[in-house]
Amino acid sequence: MSSPSPSNPAPRRLAGRTALVTGSSRGVGKLVAEAMAREGASRVIVHGRSEASCADVLALVRATGAEGVALTAELAEPAQVEALADRVLALGGVDILYNNAAVMHPWRESIDLHTQQDWAWSFQVNVFALVRLCARLIPSMREKHWGRIVNVTSGIDKTPQLAGYGSSKWAVDKFTDDLAAELKGSGVIVSRLDPGWLRTDLGGPHAPNAPESVLPGALVPVLLSDDAAGGQFFRAQDYRRDA
Ligand SMILES: NC(=O)c1ccc[n+]([C@@H]2O[C@H](COP(=O)([O-])OP(=O)(O)OC[C@H]3O[C@@H](n4cnc5c(N)ncnc54)[C@H](OP(=O)(O)O)[C@@H]3O)[C@@H](O)[C@H]2O)c1
Repeated sequence: MSSPSPSNPAPRRLAGRTALVTGSSRGVGKLVAEAMAREGASRVIVHGRSEASCADVLALVRATGAEGVALTAELAEPAQVEALADRVLALGGVDILYNNAAVMHPWRESIDLHTQQDWAWSFQVNVFALVRLCARLIPSMREKHWGRIVNVTSGIDKTPQLAGYGSSKWAVDKFTDDLAAELKGSGVIVSRLDPGWLRTDLGGPHAPNAPESVLPGALVPVLLSDDAAGGQFFRAQDYRRDA
């Protein structure tokens, strides 16, 4: 078999698909949004909290030939989550929902130093917004009998200093399991993905992995075949090109 070349380009495995990637103004989401556009997605909706923060990723998406749309929403505000869903549905919904955006509260040395706000913020952005986007965007996927949802989780373990963040990711895992059971046989496949510890703004400068190492693994749950099981757990670092 010949290798991909300019005259024999690699097949674009998401040709004609539309996608929303939350938190795609930077970090993991930015890489995923551009990668999906390179795979032929016809429209990639990028998301951040401001138009300015989305400008770079929008340009990267459009440079592939895909349609790029930027939508802004503060996911800590439930009304803005609903407004984001409204605007996505007004565009016809999406085939792929990549729930990537998340916040991490400050490091707290002991549980008595955790605040109510640490937990409320973590759960609103990381869990409740994700659940609402699923609830609002899945019905149109079901109508088309095709959809892929990726809920980004974390391998964080035994880190009580970030218990509010870690617990929110545990809730994402549990919700994904339940949702997979509900979606069985619908053509809509939900997965969860741990990107690995990366040197993004969230992961910090001491993380062992470059942000780019999240690819190609981060696209594996998007590219699942129609007979794949729902509720699978993927570790992006397992698919590293240098592994
Ligand atoms: N980096 C790691 O080591 C690591 C490890 C395990 C799991 N993860 C998970 O991977 C995902 C991506 O993380 P990352 O490292 O790429 O994060 P990041 O670099 O900090 O980027 C976060 C993204 O989420 C958006 N965002 C942040 N707060 C938001 C809010 N309140 N409302 C709406 N959007 C908001 C940001 O948009 P703005 O530009 O508007 O701020 C940005 O696009 C997260 O789910 C994270 O939990 C990361």
